[in-house]
Amino acid sequence: MYTTFYQDHAIKTKIPDDAEGKICWKSPANIALIKYWGKETGQIPMNASLSFSLKKSVVKACMRYKVSITGEGGLQSFKVNGEENETFARRIKDYLLSLYPYFPCLGRLDLEIETHSTFPHSAGIASSAAAFSALALCLCSLEEALYGGKNQDEDFFRKASYMARLGSGSACRSVYDGFALWGETRHYQTGSNLFATRLFEQDVNPLFNTLQDAILVADSSAKKVSSSSGHAMMKNHPFRESRIEQVELNMQKFLNAIKEGDEKTFVEVIENEALTLHGLMMTSDPGYLLMKPGTLEMIEKIRNFREETGINVGFTLDAGPNIHLIYFEKDAKKVRPFITSGLAPYCQNGLWMDDGMGTGPGKINNL
Ligand code: DP6
Repeated sequence: MYTTFYQDHAIKTKIPDDAEGKICWKSPANIALIKYWGKETGQIPMNASLSFSLKKSVVKACMRYKVSITGEGGLQSFKVNGEENETFARRIKDYLLSLYPYFPCLGRLDLEIETHSTFPHSAGIASSAAAFSALALCLCSLEEALYGGKNQDEDFFRKASYMARLGSGSACRSVYDGFALWGETRHYQTGSNLFATRLFEQDVNPLFNTLQDAILVADSSAKKVSSSSGHAMMKNHPFRESRIEQVELNMQKFLNAIKEGDEKTFVEVIENEALTLHGLMMTSDPGYLLMKPGTLEMIEKIRNFREETGINVGFTLDAGPNIHLIYFEKDAKKVRPFITSGLAPYCQNGLWMDDGMGTGPGKINNL
């Protein structure tokens, strides 16, 4: 239903000739615990995924708009962290063009966009998820500014999530605080392939709203295989069908664990998801490896620490070599010293970042 809904309901009303203004949003990066890997045409995920939004790893975006004097609007400039960025500008131009059917007003507006990320590029955190989420939120606010609206209600975020997905799949999960689910699954009714939804409060034991994420940088060099090629290789992957089945099983276990407060199963599932993601990369055609020696050293250390202390800490990995150490706030006093003395030595230049579950995106006045 939603596939054509937003196009059918696109507002075609003429905008006032003097329409002009600036809209800014900040949006967090998110870390997936159940992984999205593989997609179909139209940014439809091969399987459902689940993530939580981070607190400190945030992208801010400001969009200036003005009615175009030539009558033909478009992106006039795009700056990342204060500098013009041609590569990103091209991607954003294409993205905006693809959104004309949803936001016909874009065809009449000149836009200047500037983004700023709070985390270093070397952290390997996908800034694209936070950036596309922030941009999609700006676009939905722009529409409200031009035509009026209900002021950021549930539909607003759903639409922003839909639009963010068209920029980058994982971005659709960044428009929420807490846990966000994207994709259809037998185990959660609201799961949709078209936008992410937030898990209901009653389905999350409060303990799980205190999750911490220490991002441990095993290697900061640019990765050799992009996520896009990784997704593409899932089309004919020999383990495709078993992966789809496995995700459903992991989703069921995960949802049950966070509802019941079952820390042990939670850790088992997130590590299984992370290693499966990398297993799928290794068994793709051609196969490739993104983990580095430091990644494996840290995995060993984390598992030993867990065994010795009985503390439920676990790791997850994105499509890169860096470890995300996931733990509960109540264990921070014991886990922190382990990070600094047990894990930081395996990080490149000792680099790691302290993050955790955040409060989601927000409208801001400036970068
Ligand atoms: C490994 O969202 O970056 O982080 O849709 O092509 O932009 P595109 O891919 P992207 O893929 C992220 C994959 C992942 C797992 C996840 O975030 O679920």
